[in-house]
Amino acid sequence: MTEQISPASGVHGVVTVPGDKSISHRYAILTSIASGESKIYNYSTGADCQSTLCCMAALGARYAFIEEDGRRVLTVQGVGATGLHAPAAPLDAGNSGSTIRMLSGILAAQPFTTTITGDESLVKRPMRRIITPLRAMGANIEAAGEQYPPLTIHGAPLRGIDYQLPVASAQVKSCVLLAGLYAQGDTVVHEPVVTRDHTEIALREFGAEIDIHPRVVRLRGGATLAGRELFVPGDLSSAAFLIVAALLFPDANLTISNIGLNPTRTALLDVLRGMGAVIKLLHLEQANGELIGSLQVKGSRIRGGVIEGPTTAAVIDEIPALAVLGAVSEEGLIVRNASELRVKETDRIATIAENLRNMGVRVSTSEDGLEIPGNQRFHAAEIHSRGDHRIAMAFSIAALAAGGPCTIHDSDAASVSFPEFYKTLREIAR
Ligand code: S3P
Repeated sequence: MTEQISPASGVHGVVTVPGDKSISHRYAILTSIASGESKIYNYSTGADCQSTLCCMAALGARYAFIEEDGRRVLTVQGVGATGLHAPAAPLDAGNSGSTIRMLSGILAAQPFTTTITGDESLVKRPMRRIITPLRAMGANIEAAGEQYPPLTIHGAPLRGIDYQLPVASAQVKSCVLLAGLYAQGDTVVHEPVVTRDHTEIALREFGAEIDIHPRVVRLRGGATLAGRELFVPGDLSSAAFLIVAALLFPDANLTISNIGLNPTRTALLDVLRGMGAVIKLLHLEQANGELIGSLQVKGSRIRGGVIEGPTTAAVIDEIPALAVLGAVSEEGLIVRNASELRVKETDRIATIAENLRNMGVRVSTSEDGLEIPGNQRFHAAEIHSRGDHRIAMAFSIAALAAGGPCTIHDSDAASVSFPEFYKTLREIAR
């Protein structure tokens, strides 16, 4: 599909975004291996989270979407820790790295063999990072070229490990912790920098014995989880596109309500404020151990900045949106230590640079970063998402501030995390 985006003169309104993708995956997996019924409010509408649900259903959990007081609610009938069964066919994780990496931790402990694979992007993404620790815990895993999907996972009784993550990755941390749930003894994971801690918070919420410290988590194996009610906050990484859209217009005034504000995710707001953005917190509460709030964004003078070190890992999903803002900022944006961008849904250093250049914006790239001079203008252009949701959305935002209408090719990629994106954009950009 293609989408035509015309230049706008402002961004205004009050909106919500879909439920957080990261939290939704974790709730789908944990409620499926819990015993009894769970209800999940505001589950992500994105295709990635549907992939996780389909995989869990193929393994024996049952789920349904029901309506309750006008709200869409997901009910999951969990099978209990030992209730999963071998799927009839290979599992399809679609475009979702979180699904294949996190679910592999569960599959590694099952008394059966499962093959799990995904789309043409996913089969190019590195899996050695999960294969190594899962093998150390006792699982037997085969992979294409020793590191790519399809993965064939021969489950086995696992033993806990003390594991130092070689890359900053919450997906890998979560994979090891989920395997650790089934393992004999304790599993300890050390991470090089702090990454999102939704798995740890959810495990604690479900009653697992877990000690959470900055960069070290210890989980006691063998917990039994019981079904429960859960609320998924809105996805800050999806809201990032709308926040940046507002920051492109001097008189913008946009409120986004019900967004997840877990401190391991809010580095985006620190970076934006550091660049000069005026973002006000209107309200804050907690649900299931996660912070939720509303944000008001006003048109601001954006200076520019440098993203490097631990901050890069903390805003890794938001770099496509930040790159767009960097181009129109006063001093530009430098991104360093971002080699992980090369192994996302696309090589995002390449796809960001390709589309900035399509729009007439100067950018230079290195193996692990980008340098975007400031004070530039976007020209009308053909944009190619290359099937990457965050590239489609970032450049749709850029198109709002372009000199003429832009065409977004493969625009439907956005539905991986934010199916309502273009509709929401039309509501706020006029
Ligand atoms: C995610 C972790 C991050 C992030 C991805 C979602 C998660 O990936 O980029 O979109 O839900 O744990 P890595 O674990 O590869 O850093």
